[in-house]
Amino acid sequence: MSGIYRGLVSYGDRDFSRFLRRAFLHASGRSPESLDRPVVGIATSTSDFNPCHRQQPELVRSVARGIVAAGGLPMEFPTISLGESFLEPTAMVYRNLMAMDVEELVRAQPMDAVVLVGGCDKTVPAQLMGAFSAGRPAIQLVTGPMSTGRYQGERLGACTDCRWFWARYRAGEVSETEIGQVERNLATTAGTCAVMGTASTMACIVEALGMALPDSAAAPAVHADRLRIGEATGAAAVSIALAERTPDQIVTAASVRNALRVLLAIGGSTNALIHLTAMAGRLGLPVDPDELNELSETTPVLVELKPTGANYMEDLHASGGLPAVLHELRDLLDLSALTVTGETLGERLGAGPSWVDREVVRPLSEPSREKGGLVWLRGSLAPSGALIKRSAADPALFETTGRAVVFTSLEDLAARVDDPELDVRPDDVLVLQNAGPLGAGMPEAGYLPIPAKLARAGVRDMVRISDARMSGTAYGTIVLHVTPEAALGGPLALVRNGDRIRLSVSEARLDLLVPPEELDRRRADLPAPGTPPVTGYRKLFRDHVLGADRGCDFDFCLPGS
Ligand code: FES
Ligand code: MG
Repeated sequence: MSGIYRGLVSYGDRDFSRFLRRAFLHASGRSPESLDRPVVGIATSTSDFNPCHRQQPELVRSVARGIVAAGGLPMEFPTISLGESFLEPTAMVYRNLMAMDVEELVRAQPMDAVVLVGGCDKTVPAQLMGAFSAGRPAIQLVTGPMSTGRYQGERLGACTDCRWFWARYRAGEVSETEIGQVERNLATTAGTCAVMGTASTMACIVEALGMALPDSAAAPAVHADRLRIGEATGAAAVSIALAERTPDQIVTAASVRNALRVLLAIGGSTNALIHLTAMAGRLGLPVDPDELNELSETTPVLVELKPTGANYMEDLHASGGLPAVLHELRDLLDLSALTVTGETLGERLGAGPSWVDREVVRPLSEPSREKGGLVWLRGSLAPSGALIKRSAADPALFETTGRAVVFTSLEDLAARVDDPELDVRPDDVLVLQNAGPLGAGMPEAGYLPIPAKLARAGVRDMVRISDARMSGTAYGTIVLHVTPEAALGGPLALVRNGDRIRLSVSEARLDLLVPPEELDRRRADLPAPGTPPVTGYRKLFRDHVLGADRGCDFDFCLPGS
């Protein structure tokens, strides 16, 4: 049986249970016949604190139209929403909370399938983590990227340009008045950040995994195509309900590998590795960092979007969208992977898009970069690993041995980075400690500012190392996700001013050049970790969050835990 019947078999007198639920559904004014249709939940995530989702009400109406036209009963329901820019200490702390919200509401309410509507960085992984654990047929619909704004003839998009202008403002090249004008033109429409940041990367990854409709990642939020994709997603949800096509049929070792290839080829966000690890983990699929490096060596960067290139998501949409990228990559992908519509990836790709702008999506034979965007580093400073986005870094700094300038916390960084007395040179290595998942909730603090006195002297990049994350819209020679984190006593906690640190991207190494005896001595002197008194969800987070190498999921959310 389909439809609302599914939810009526839990306990007691089944016929009464069904009778009662139908009685309450009649209160919603729906026709009696509609109650016999397959029920498709629409998980929405609107919030005034999430302007990236501002057009969701209209998008959700398009989904409902598609569901009704295909013979289903749409049932919209809210979950929490995570607006990246507004959550303290960082939206990352709340991704798992949203995942639990989605999981329980999808499982607890009577629905045959669910359309997950989200977009801003953490919302898409949260929705899919939850849906994967719930195990119901599911399909993702992203809200789509912002369109660009204009400033003095130049296109602007959040938020690579935010950082670029801010760096120039810090360096004294952009005036107070000008930065105010730029501020009003960076984010001018509904939708997610306009570049290949985390939201765009996740949209591409979800399409590559097969969990969303083809060519659905890049259509701008305010483009009519977005609403057409909404309608088609609603209709597809009815089909997956009838076919009982659950996420575990779609997300497999093969599709995760495909998604990793795409992450590398689009020059995608470092955060996406954490999210993909967490999402795959919900289905018992490990993401092996060593496999990432192997794939990175053989996957060129093809997409010329900021922060790696010069274009925006709206350009990718106008240029064939993700299908254009997938088509270029086809010889590197497992085309037999099943997608949510029931076709294989190969069937989905067909002959490829009719036209591609080669300034935006490069051919495989002439890539923007020969090797993939990300490298997983290991070494004495990061025994369980660390990540660098080489596609957004300065190759001149790939092989660096430098003197450490250490900041012990986010507060220490804020207090001292612009101090004119700070002992720092352009060839130093900036180190930030205690900004990992346990230390500070893992904020996007890994993009350490260039100390003001160096910025004013024209220094634009330095090697920077931390256990924090970095916004997908940021760029620089930045080593992130150092694991184990400093707050867990990882070697990062033992770095002192003046130590030598060696980064080698070619060898995928990150080493602290300090004798082991000295490190042992420092370890013995480390203060006992402070445990701030927290209650409620923040206590759950502190007690159960896993390291970045394991996707920062909760230990008890993994299957078999
Ligand atoms: Fe929402 Fe960037 S702030 S996607
Ligand atoms: Mg972001």
